[in-house]
Amino acid sequence: VAYSYWKGKGNVKDGFSRLLTEVSQGYLQPDVGGETIPVAQGELSDLVGGEPLFKALYQWFLDSGGVYKLAFGPKAFIVISDPIVVRHLLKENAFNYDKGVLAEILEPIMGKGLIPADLETWKPRRRAIVPSFHKAYLEAMVRMFGSCTHRALAKLDALTDQGQEAEVDMEVEFLNLGLDIIGLGVFNYDFGSVTSESPVIKAVYGVLKEAEHRSTFYLPYWKLPLASVVVPRQRKFHQDLVVINDCLDSLIAQAKSTRNADDAEALQARDYTQVKDPSLLRFLVDLRDADLSDRQLRDDLMTMLIAGHETTAAVLTWALFCLAQHPAEMERVLAEVDQALGDATPGLAELQELPAVRAALAESLRLYPQPPILIRRALAPDTLPSPLNGDPAGYPIGKGADLFISVWNLHRSPHLWRDPDTFRPQRFSEPHSNPALQGRWAGYRPEAQGSSLYPNEVASDFAFIPFGGGARKCVGDQFALLEATVILAMLLRRYEFRFVEGPERVGMASGATIHTANGLRMKVTRRQQGVQSSQRSRELSTVGA
Ligand code: HEM
Repeated sequence: VAYSYWKGKGNVKDGFSRLLTEVSQGYLQPDVGGETIPVAQGELSDLVGGEPLFKALYQWFLDSGGVYKLAFGPKAFIVISDPIVVRHLLKENAFNYDKGVLAEILEPIMGKGLIPADLETWKPRRRAIVPSFHKAYLEAMVRMFGSCTHRALAKLDALTDQGQEAEVDMEVEFLNLGLDIIGLGVFNYDFGSVTSESPVIKAVYGVLKEAEHRSTFYLPYWKLPLASVVVPRQRKFHQDLVVINDCLDSLIAQAKSTRNADDAEALQARDYTQVKDPSLLRFLVDLRDADLSDRQLRDDLMTMLIAGHETTAAVLTWALFCLAQHPAEMERVLAEVDQALGDATPGLAELQELPAVRAALAESLRLYPQPPILIRRALAPDTLPSPLNGDPAGYPIGKGADLFISVWNLHRSPHLWRDPDTFRPQRFSEPHSNPALQGRWAGYRPEAQGSSLYPNEVASDFAFIPFGGGARKCVGDQFALLEATVILAMLLRRYEFRFVEGPERVGMASGATIHTANGLRMKVTRRQQGVQSSQRSRELSTVGA
């Protein structure tokens, strides 16, 4: 193996870093099929340089097409940036794939939670969890999103009192707000992170950081015996896990010991006005999982805590980043919020009246998908369908092949989107297609969105997949989108945001999600209040204020 690095193109440093990469990720098995797939010409040093991985993959996509192979010595990744192949992987032959490398990275944190779970574990858990996100739950959640946002408003109000201008890192504020919301929504635990700090909050951020470190670091030294004792950051990671697990265990024990017949009846009837604790944990314990092991329940809760926190915060961060650079789009959103909502706290019905806010969020998710890459590994041989401009015969791949679905490439593909790098939320109301793919790709059809309030993978025939698609599509998509809509509408109504140092200073860094390199530092001032006070605002009750 070492010889193959020395031979050919690499220098000593490249050869060494390649070897490290492969040993570290356990990729020493031979290349698995895909002999006919175009090979991208690149160097590992392209990946380990300053640029995030997903950006390096974009240039190779333009050069090599919607299916290409990135070879590191004897091992290759297949990078997918084409909607027909993505549809095949996520929907048509979804059960031929598991999460591969991702599962290996996440397993120590999420155990057998839904995201990393093997198919056998996943099936019954998915069946148990999906029904808990029903309409009455989401309605109760929207009320909770509003009351949590009022905490952020109170904090910003204090900072901007009497016309003051405050400098605030909005990425941090969105993360705090997202943590409070996911804690209450999933297990009725109030982190209170908008206004305070606690050991549990610190532990959640510590674990998130470690998940990110593991997914971007090339040597998995944490697998070495005693690493969790000897290496300080690994010791800290294990301490953080103990803090969170203890917290989750006590919440589970409490939920199991406080089953209440009245609550269970109300939950059964989906009457959330009568339910004291509307969380997913309560629903799962009362109606779904009486005999489920505490361990599995904890893995599920931990998964949703991690999956639903940073992702939603990132959507809000990039939505504000985009809107702050596009005054005309900002105006459109503000006019809508002033007219439809005013100072009211929105409920589910009011969110229907905010199409411009929803489109701005969808467009931010197109430009900054969270996560920018989905990972799969083939469980059995398969043939990938032919992509745009690819070999019509398609591409046979073998068992064990590792695939990266580049959501970033797909969402910015010049073959699928007009002016793909431009922030233009109205695109989601305009149908379009690609004649070269006629009959194979249905194009973007707003009417195919169905009853969904937001553009989705169905309307775009897998060109827009912010929540994945098919069997393993995100279970929290509606939760997250409604949350982001409430928060964005309420914040924009009340404050004006300007960059402290200009958008170019914000930068981009990749971990599990795309976050900023230097924070989203904004100058925050109050908007002129009262001017836009609408009829609607007077009609609506301010729920949860
Ligand atoms: C899966 C994105 C919020 C729970 C996924 C997947 C994506 C995604 C792309 C598919 C992963 C794959 O196919 O490999 C997002 C984004 C969010 C968000 C962008 C916020 C804007 C949430 C929330 C929750 C959640 C709020 C829970 C309350 C999950 C779970 C899965 C998942 C459990 C695994 C589903 C399965 O494998 O059956 N998410 N998510 N997500 N998400 Fe989300």
